[in-house]
Amino acid sequence: PGPLGEIIEQLLGNRGKMLRPRLLLTCAALAACGRKLQSNLLFEAAAAVELIHTASLIHDDIIDEAAWRRSREALHRSWGPGRATLAGDLLLARAFALLSRPGRNKNLLLLLERTVAHLCRGEIYQMDQRYRWDLTENQYYRINYYKTAFFIAACCEAGGLLAGASAGCCRALRHYGLNLGHAFQIVDDILDYAGYPEQLGKPVGNDLEQGRTTLPLIHLFETQKQYLKLVRMLPVNTAPPRELQKTLREAVRKNGSLDYALAAARRKQAEAVKALQQLPAGEERRMLAQIAAELTRHFPGTLGGRPVDPEVKLS
Ligand code: FPP
Ligand code: MG
Repeated sequence: PGPLGEIIEQLLGNRGKMLRPRLLLTCAALAACGRKLQSNLLFEAAAAVELIHTASLIHDDIIDEAAWRRSREALHRSWGPGRATLAGDLLLARAFALLSRPGRNKNLLLLLERTVAHLCRGEIYQMDQRYRWDLTENQYYRINYYKTAFFIAACCEAGGLLAGASAGCCRALRHYGLNLGHAFQIVDDILDYAGYPEQLGKPVGNDLEQGRTTLPLIHLFETQKQYLKLVRMLPVNTAPPRELQKTLREAVRKNGSLDYALAAARRKQAEAVKALQQLPAGEERRMLAQIAAELTRHFPGTLGGRPVDPEVKLS
């Protein structure tokens, strides 16, 4: 209850896919190899990663000026950016309160503190690269590492830490998560060009509008320099006008740049599944492979010419 209570209630209306807690719990079960773990510690940690994720999305939507999220009006639209920021802060504080209860795993606390630092770094790095149309693939992957892949990897490693797994096991879980995270972000960036907002529960086309160069656009500019020349003629720090956005979107599709990005996502996905081979076989390992497979399962063979029909819901 109270003013923040109402805001939090709006949040609880649609909880998203719970990918991060799902990864943490599955990785913990996998790493435990049949040993019984203390479920309250697992659920606390799972709740903490989801709280951190939700806080980051609230703040991200303010930064990106996104109008909706998880099929609802974004919090800052309903309550104003000030209240939304504070609601995000509260969730973050609650997450770290859970993680620092007496007798909890100190390494897990430090890992998730580092995760939040990386999220902030990634977001600032991304801001600094806004309207940089000549962004390289390396720079793109660097942003993705900080803003997405590290967090997903941390959730997987957290499972290992909670299960008291060996360093080798934690390394394999982290490797799986890093590659899954990269694949996830590439798919997210493809859907910004090719997805349906109703299915994703969030707007599409935001990246161009925000002057964000992602993998499909990097590929277009590298293979069809005339488009790079066009955006270079824009005044500094401005988004392409609507007409040019439309032209670029079409060119990205027709040029096979979405297919190029999808192939990159599939390579990361395959690398994630490969990392699982170092871990004990069984139901949990199958579930992790399934999570990786779901990412691109719904894409047709080629993305040229038609929009994607993603049953996959991201973020
Ligand atoms: C979504 O990216 C956003 C992130 C992956 C990270 C956001 C992180 C911060 C705002 C830093 C602050 C962190 C905390 C914990 C308060 P996106 O914009 O590419 O994806 P979208 O299409 O879902 O918006
Ligand atoms: Mg965003």
